[in-house]
Amino acid sequence: MSGHPSVHRHDLDSARVRALFPALGGETVFLDNAGGSQVPRVVADAMHRYLVESYVQLGADYALSRQATATVRQAHDVVSVLMNAGSGDAEAGKVILGASTSELVNRLAQAYAEVWEPGDEVIVSEAAHASNADPFMRLASGRGLRAAGLTVKTWHVDPTTGEASLEALRQLVGPRTRLIAVPHVSNILGAVLDLGPVVALARSVGARVLVDGVAYAPHRAIDVTAWGVDWYVYSTYKVFGPHAAALYGSHAALAEVTGPNHGFIPKDELPRKFELGGVNHEGAAGIAALPRYLAALVGEGERADQPLERARVEAAFEVITRLELPLQVRLLEDLVRRPDVRVIGPISSGLERVGVVSFVHARRSSAEIARAANGRGLGIRFGHFYAYRLCQALGLDPDDGVVRVSFAHYNTMAEVERLITFFDEVL
Ligand SMILES: Cc1ncc(COP(=O)(O)O)c(C=O)c1O
Repeated sequence: MSGHPSVHRHDLDSARVRALFPALGGETVFLDNAGGSQVPRVVADAMHRYLVESYVQLGADYALSRQATATVRQAHDVVSVLMNAGSGDAEAGKVILGASTSELVNRLAQAYAEVWEPGDEVIVSEAAHASNADPFMRLASGRGLRAAGLTVKTWHVDPTTGEASLEALRQLVGPRTRLIAVPHVSNILGAVLDLGPVVALARSVGARVLVDGVAYAPHRAIDVTAWGVDWYVYSTYKVFGPHAAALYGSHAALAEVTGPNHGFIPKDELPRKFELGGVNHEGAAGIAALPRYLAALVGEGERADQPLERARVEAAFEVITRLELPLQVRLLEDLVRRPDVRVIGPISSGLERVGVVSFVHARRSSAEIARAANGRGLGIRFGHFYAYRLCQALGLDPDDGVVRVSFAHYNTMAEVERLITFFDEVL
């Protein structure tokens, strides 16, 4: 397989991309990208430059402060285009930056705790990463304010496939449903959820939809406008950026809640009302530099400093998908022919799944397999990946969980072949 001309062509494209990432020159094979991705040089350089050239507080009138303020605003604008939240009059909502997805969803749950009434209902997915379910479960346990008495219902998955049926969701939705929280892609299963029917169901009862896009965002272009979602959150450190996260809220959804920032800040001063004490400034500088990387990815280096256009985002994610798809297809193709391996997640070669590939072995523990791989410089991982309830539902021991291989577009077919050679020995 590694001698096939298409493999060489793929790895030639990858070589061009990899040269833009300083960390990719070493020995480690990065196959835990759903945990966190590497950053391109332009992002790392922008963060460094910010720290040494304009590390001052925002909002003052001297030149450096104006420059710092503009950089942080630019980060919001870039994420807004990345999520297709629009701008100016066509803006569908606001982007809030924060430390992590877990933190942003917690902030949102706390804000809703002041609004929801006893008897209101939230639906969470059994496939969720804990960050998109636990904040609501905590409210339901009585630690919210008015929301004490909130009911949290679980959208269960099929114990064999991990899929959750729309019919099962329909049965949970009712007149007291206030929010449906779903993962766009499970960080174990890799399947892309069709958001359209979920949004339609929520609309039918006037409920909001919160989408955890963390495992989707590194692989495909986000489009909150096309999907009509109310809330969408992802972690920028998994999308070639700094350790931070972004939450989009539609204007209508944001109007329902009050952000947690200080009392003198008006409710409608957004995103500030939601950004407690501000954001990580050097991280914002890194996010603001991401368009330069996207320009390089689509061969438009000369446009690197121009404001990010939606077309560049879509073109860049087409390149990303084109580079990633053959890797996941090759790995799945290999795993399904191994009699002792159970792939956890859909087996397909199409766009309905992303490059997050999980499996368990009939006789070997996930820990044993992952650790043996780590000993060979193969950076894969095992465990429940905070999708604890999903592992339980699938009949797995969550502490051993699954072996997970997660690709980014900078991985190569040669790396996949190396992994497969290792699997030949241990599986
Ligand atoms: C699907 C998914 N959702 C949410 C999170 C939580 O993100 P954060 O670490 O930014 O809180 C993760 C992190 O791994 C994840 O994979």
